[in-house]
Amino acid sequence: MESIKGKNILVIGATGGIGKQLVKLLHQSGANLFITGRNAEKIEQVRKEFFISEQSAFAADLTILENVNQLKERFFSNHQTIDALINVSGIGIIKNSEQLTSADFLQTILINLYTPFNIIQAFLPSMKEHKKGLIVHIPGVLGKVPMLGAAAYSASKYGLVGMLQSIREEIKRTEIRITNIFMGGVDSPFWDHIDLKVQKEKMISAEEAAKAIWFLCQQPSSGVISEMVLQPFNHQAI
Ligand SMILES: NC(=O)c1ccc[n+]([C@@H]2O[C@H](COP(=O)([O-])OP(=O)(O)OC[C@H]3O[C@@H](n4cnc5c(N)ncnc54)[C@H](OP(=O)(O)O)[C@@H]3O)[C@@H](O)[C@H]2O)c1
Repeated sequence: MESIKGKNILVIGATGGIGKQLVKLLHQSGANLFITGRNAEKIEQVRKEFFISEQSAFAADLTILENVNQLKERFFSNHQTIDALINVSGIGIIKNSEQLTSADFLQTILINLYTPFNIIQAFLPSMKEHKKGLIVHIPGVLGKVPMLGAAAYSASKYGLVGMLQSIREEIKRTEIRITNIFMGGVDSPFWDHIDLKVQKEKMISAEEAAKAIWFLCQQPSSGVISEMVLQPFNHQAI
């Protein structure tokens, strides 16, 4: 396994259930972290808890392209290179197609697909220049198998997978690795705004989900884990 110590790692969605647990693990392993999330208060809490400098934290709505450009500027004024880009941001709107508004659909695509594209466009050139780096996203199982009520969510996550598969073709002759994690239900605040009865106690814990990403960050660069599937033992939707 490769050491995480001193690696320049960008965590997007660091204020979320999985993101915060990941920041904890990466901090304990000595990563050189840059964190971002939408909520300024929450990002400040995470920053302080894990002794991250003010210059290495940025609270912003990343659906706004200007904010992605600022993130890039801030990141590279603190770190010369990027070793890993871990995007664990996203939203879930689960409704049948008649209830799903066009605003719901657009918001889902904006956060789960358009924003990851802009982020990759901001950070991939540096990885290409150095011919190495790791990019991790969580399309989730709904990026592989659709579910009732997931028309917008699955569209965004299938789109994410398609986009990343195409980008993989661009980086074939480099050591840039792209990993998609097809995770089942994770016990996190993600479910708080979803009108669906779920059994959170049967889901994967946010800590276990973060450990899977932490493991990926330690993979030797001679190989790539293109996909990881991590499912809870029992189905959580009731
Ligand atoms: N939880 C699950 O069961 C599950 C299963 C499969 C896949 N996933 C995927 O895993 C990822 C993380 O999920 P989670 O469970 O950790 O969710 P979460 O606890 O709801 O966290 C979501 C994160 O996304 C950030 N975010 C949302 N909108 C944003 C925006 N416009 N700009 C910047 N940041 C934004 C949030 O920031 P703030 O908190 O600061 O607003 C938060 O950090 C998502 O991509 C999700 O689709 C989750």
